[in-house]
Amino acid sequence: MNKVINVTTIRDVAKDANVSVATVSRVMNDNGYVNPETREKVKETIARLNYQPNSVARSLYKKESKTIGIMVPDIMNPYFPELVRGVEDYLIEKGFTTILCNTDEDPEKERLYLDVMKQRYVDGAIIVSNTLKRDLIDEYDMPIVALDRSIHENVPTFMVDNTVGAEQATQHLIDIGCKRIAHVRGPEHVENATARYEGYYKIMQQTNGFQEHCVVQGDFDQKQSAKAVKQLLQEQPEIDGIFAGNDIMALGALKGAESLGIKVPQELAIIGFDGIDLSSMTIPELSTMSQPIYEMSTQAADALMSLISGQTADETEHIYQPTLEWRQSTDRIRKEDN
Ligand code: RIB
Repeated sequence: MNKVINVTTIRDVAKDANVSVATVSRVMNDNGYVNPETREKVKETIARLNYQPNSVARSLYKKESKTIGIMVPDIMNPYFPELVRGVEDYLIEKGFTTILCNTDEDPEKERLYLDVMKQRYVDGAIIVSNTLKRDLIDEYDMPIVALDRSIHENVPTFMVDNTVGAEQATQHLIDIGCKRIAHVRGPEHVENATARYEGYYKIMQQTNGFQEHCVVQGDFDQKQSAKAVKQLLQEQPEIDGIFAGNDIMALGALKGAESLGIKVPQELAIIGFDGIDLSSMTIPELSTMSQPIYEMSTQAADALMSLISGQTADETEHIYQPTLEWRQSTDRIRKEDN
């Protein structure tokens, strides 16, 4: 026999406390006058009857849900869960829950998730996107903060200086003695992938002499990078340094080198970009340009809270500096030093 589950409603509370539904609602939402004795009586009744307000009804009534949406392009890339972690840790402390939206950088999925957020009265969103356009965001009239990638100059943005980080990565390979340096770049349409390519290009132009055929497409993907690097090293065995535009492509480059029996760092030095936890767990441990992922994401969440509470953003662009994590995959000079 089906078990009957009694669910206490707001009407049950009102009847038991001998007040109107409107009074219970005012006590629940802490708005409008309720005399102290009545307030205490209603609160005691709610606790005794274990009344759990219907969150959907509450959202409809208050046009808010204490929920934030966070949109990321690829939940399979370990960078994004680390980014979401900072946002979620910050928001839960403020009494907000988080809805995770994986968009695959598909504009249709982005629009779908924006529709869902609007229908659920989500209070605001943190968005990582290179395809979302400003006019689409205006349609939704929702507080938004851009994280990792910019959307529009008027949208508060939290991201690293990708070009400078790439310049430092490339210069690091030169400093440890690399003579022929290649670059595994991310997708053409992703702005930070192009910014990192430009950082590599600038340093190569200034020093070693840029060679177009030393750049391969890794698409921010580990397997594609491994395949591209293997082919590159077979065609150009003189390459002795690789800067990969993110850590999972650098892991792919390690795999590509290993498949050809090439020793890292002795014969080939490899450096990535991001500083994901995984980069310190590989053999050899991966050198990388580490982003302040947790700090950037918690500060983006803080900015969104300010927007939701009606404060205007003091500035819109927040640029962070990546830092070199010098590990085994480029540990050459230190060996020759001693
Ligand atoms: O690894 C994923 C990449 O996409 C990271 O470098 C991050 O910057 C994101 O944009």
